[in-house]
Amino acid sequence: MSTTRRGFLKGILGTSAAGAAATLPACAPDINPAPVTDVTASSEGVVSLQVTRYPDLEPVGGSLTVRVSGASEPVLVTHNAKDDFSVLSSICTHAACPLGFDGREVVCPCHLSKFNPVDGAVTQRPATVGLRKYTSKYNPATQVLSIDLRAGEEGFPAAVNGEVRLTFAQFPALRDNGGIVNGVPSGYGKRIFIFRRDDGTLTAVDSICTHQGCEVEARPAEQDLFCPCHASIFSSSGDVVSGVATLPLKKFTVSETTDAVVVTGVQ
Ligand code: FES
Ligand code: FES
Repeated sequence: MSTTRRGFLKGILGTSAAGAAATLPACAPDINPAPVTDVTASSEGVVSLQVTRYPDLEPVGGSLTVRVSGASEPVLVTHNAKDDFSVLSSICTHAACPLGFDGREVVCPCHLSKFNPVDGAVTQRPATVGLRKYTSKYNPATQVLSIDLRAGEEGFPAAVNGEVRLTFAQFPALRDNGGIVNGVPSGYGKRIFIFRRDDGTLTAVDSICTHQGCEVEARPAEQDLFCPCHASIFSSSGDVVSGVATLPLKKFTVSETTDAVVVTGVQ
């Protein structure tokens, strides 16, 4: 790999990519990460890309890494077919290298993992965890691709002024000791977990692993959170229990009323 390419990997992601770039095998084929552009999002977290302004993205098979000011990670935009685009995390779940697109699949230049551009699923190892997918919509008339970085999950309450209100009627598990609820609030765009612990206390934490940004999963039997990428484990209050992560998950404040649990600081 050329010095230029290694420098590119360091430039796109900073220190984590620097470490990943250092692990590149000398014989890795010259598949490059997608070109990078910097943009800003609206106050609602929507990025609007005029596709015709980006020659790397405009043709079918094109791609672009989009760094959004203030966002937690860059996203990879792929032009899959006429009027058909996808937006995924641009960071490989294996060892955090920035990803490229060969026109058919998302490819990691570091150790050649591949991912389906439509849903982010792994199609070739060594990566075993798929890529996070973002909500986007393309308007063929205006040729504008809108990416909603804070889209939520249908049926889960939105974050309004940083507050998510989960009623016991909708989420009865929150009444029961040992109950766990998770979902993606619109207005925030990332999964959060709410625990009713065995002692009856409530906790709420973010899902983004502090090691390299994978989404953690709840383990009900253990009452903790497991990162499928490199096996870090966090307690229900977000503290590191074991593994390579060294920082806790983002923690939210939780309170309850007679009919709901209220999570604040979700912004
Ligand atoms: S970092 Fe190893 S396959 Fe992507
Ligand atoms: S991303 Fe590496 S342990 Fe979570």
